[in-house]
Amino acid sequence: MQRQPEPEWMDVPEEAEAYAEADFAQVNAAFVDRLAQLGGEYDRPVTVDLGTGPGDIPVLVAKALPTWRVIAFDVSHAMLVLARGAVVRAGMAGNIGLVEADAKRLPLASGAVDVVFSNSILHHITDNERLWREIRRITKPGGLIFVRDLARPADERTARTIVDQYAGTESALLQEEFYRSLLAAYTVEEVRGQLDRTGLGPLRVERVTDRHLDVWGRFVPQTRSVSLSS
Ligand SMILES: C[S@@+](CC[C@H](N)C(=O)[O-])C[C@H]1O[C@@H](n2cnc3c(N)ncnc32)[C@H](O)[C@@H]1O
Repeated sequence: MQRQPEPEWMDVPEEAEAYAEADFAQVNAAFVDRLAQLGGEYDRPVTVDLGTGPGDIPVLVAKALPTWRVIAFDVSHAMLVLARGAVVRAGMAGNIGLVEADAKRLPLASGAVDVVFSNSILHHITDNERLWREIRRITKPGGLIFVRDLARPADERTARTIVDQYAGTESALLQEEFYRSLLAAYTVEEVRGQLDRTGLGPLRVERVTDRHLDVWGRFVPQTRSVSLSS
């Protein structure tokens, strides 16, 4: 099935609210468990979350990894309003900074970040190479990159089955969003190509559930080989 892009930003307040109200408790907990497995040994890392949405994941990260401070970015003002509420309610305002910015053009110095994580933003972005290049630019050599996203199903029927199975009790708006997101998602092979083209070849990509893929690993700057032969 061909990829069918969807709008990049989730800036319509009703859409942001439907997303924030949906029950992602299990998938968010699984994400944070995996992040802790991959990077739990870090003490006070400079950490960024790209496309934080309603801020649920950085709140869970701050609870699970109390020495971590997370700078959470999103382009959507509507989402950041919801995220601010979640962070304050959780009493985590000292652990989490919220910044309105495009993940493809971040207000961060090169090599400034120890841990970059992101859940469910890649499928929003058609100019995905700009996102990967920006992740490469901000990450310290040896830093951890962990990106999880939806994986595009083989066909529309499978996408509908996944929506029914995992979001059957959610609002109609959320179900439609989920369906469109599955159609906009990339395959493992496409993501592999994106990484190879953007200097992130050493990262691993794997399908990890019936609807998710993971990209993870330590950032190894690629040195360009120079041929000395004439
Ligand atoms: C599906 S939500 C995921 C939210 C959150 N990561 C989670 O897992 O709950 C995708 C979020 O990515 C944001 N987003 C999309 N493109 C972005 C970009 N270029 N820069 C920053 N945020 C972006 C959207 O506004 C939206 O809030």
